[in-house]
Amino acid sequence: MTDSLTAFAAEKLDQLESRSLRRALVPTDRIDGLWVERGGRRLLSFSCNDYLNLSHHPAVKAAAMAAVERYGAGAGASRLVTGDHPVFGELEARLAALKGKQAACVFGSGYLANAGIIPTVMGPGDLILADELAHACIWSGAQLSGATVLAFRHNDMADLAQKLAARRGAAARCLIATDGVFSMDGDLAPLDAISDLARAHDAWLLVDDAHGLGVLGQGGAGAGSVYPGAHID
Ligand SMILES: Cc1ncc(COP(=O)(O)O)c(C=O)c1O
Repeated sequence: MTDSLTAFAAEKLDQLESRSLRRALVPTDRIDGLWVERGGRRLLSFSCNDYLNLSHHPAVKAAAMAAVERYGAGAGASRLVTGDHPVFGELEARLAALKGKQAACVFGSGYLANAGIIPTVMGPGDLILADELAHACIWSGAQLSGATVLAFRHNDMADLAQKLAARRGAAARCLIATDGVFSMDGDLAPLDAISDLARAHDAWLLVDDAHGLGVLGQGGAGAGSVYPGAHID
């Protein structure tokens, strides 16, 4: 007899399949970052976020190897216990300097950053307004927070203004969340206009700049530096 978990899994996978939503992992060997091997074929890759191929830069690889020699291949414990190797603090100080900010905090992945940060500052009784095309991790973090979550139309300042006017008053705190550079289309959020609306409505602004940092602005400081007048909390 099939156990209930197996039956549930089979049914769910069938449903995903029928909606063309079932996803599968495809092993990809990034030979030198530019050329990859997939399904026995050698392909030129335009499908990664390693835009400058830094993952294969000799200096980056040498520094990673030196760090493994010095610190080992794992942290051994979470940072809060004994895993806070000095290199993390050094990295955070340099990232903060690059962004012109007081401090930085590095997470294990981009997804974890939003899943960690948003529930830290937002909770029940608060309001989160996110661009409808914001990355999935903004929605995960927003849902985890227990705040009321609303989408505003992509880069549509009139819609954002209307939703702030209608809903801000009833919320204790308000957060506007957006990608800096949108991951699917590569367009930019109008951070100057969003920042003006945020200030006018006493809302905080969170920008996920996964695709802007290192790519846009002076010294690669990111999407925020394209809009020097914007206040990004
Ligand atoms: C805008 C944005 N935020 C977060 C992430 C998730 O980052 P990670 O894969 O490091 O968890 C991505 C993934 O590409 C992204 O495009």
